[in-house]
Amino acid sequence: MFELDQSQIQEYQKDKPEYYRQLAMQLESLLSEDTNWVTNLSQTSAFVYQMLPDLNWVGFYLVNSKDPNALILGPYQGKVACVHIPFGRGVCGTAAETLEPQLVADVHAFDGHIACDGDTNSEVVIPMMANGKIAGVFDIDSPVHNRFDQEDADGLTVLLKTLLASTEF
Ligand code: SME
Repeated sequence: MFELDQSQIQEYQKDKPEYYRQLAMQLESLLSEDTNWVTNLSQTSAFVYQMLPDLNWVGFYLVNSKDPNALILGPYQGKVACVHIPFGRGVCGTAAETLEPQLVADVHAFDGHIACDGDTNSEVVIPMMANGKIAGVFDIDSPVHNRFDQEDADGLTVLLKTLLASTEF
């Protein structure tokens, strides 16, 4: 189930918006069993990790209930990662503070980038809003330089909306 084969990689390269639309429908069905946030963030991380090529880390950093000015590591796929990220630090902290998606072609050129996994060369981070407030960020990393474009950021934003519509926080 949810294997990425060569024909899907070609579909993705040919028409990313359409590919993400298909992913959103599959994700909606995958998340339809329950609204539990741990379950659904875990499933979404694994689904995106499986269904997009050239990724090395996919997951969530959540606003830390014990320190609302910092993020704490949430469900993810990939190598073990740093636990705390203050708002404003690194790519994730910048997304959480500015509420703007961060599309970073070369993480080594990003001031304050936090190198959890040395394999990462580019990343995209999407702020996650729940009930009108920042709840965390969705962080997708790649070993390939300049791996993501605006169509990826838009498509991942759609997947995040699908997740939020299926989940109770
Ligand atoms: N790249 C992030 C840190 C988290 S890891 O990549 C999993 C950043 O600089 O915000």
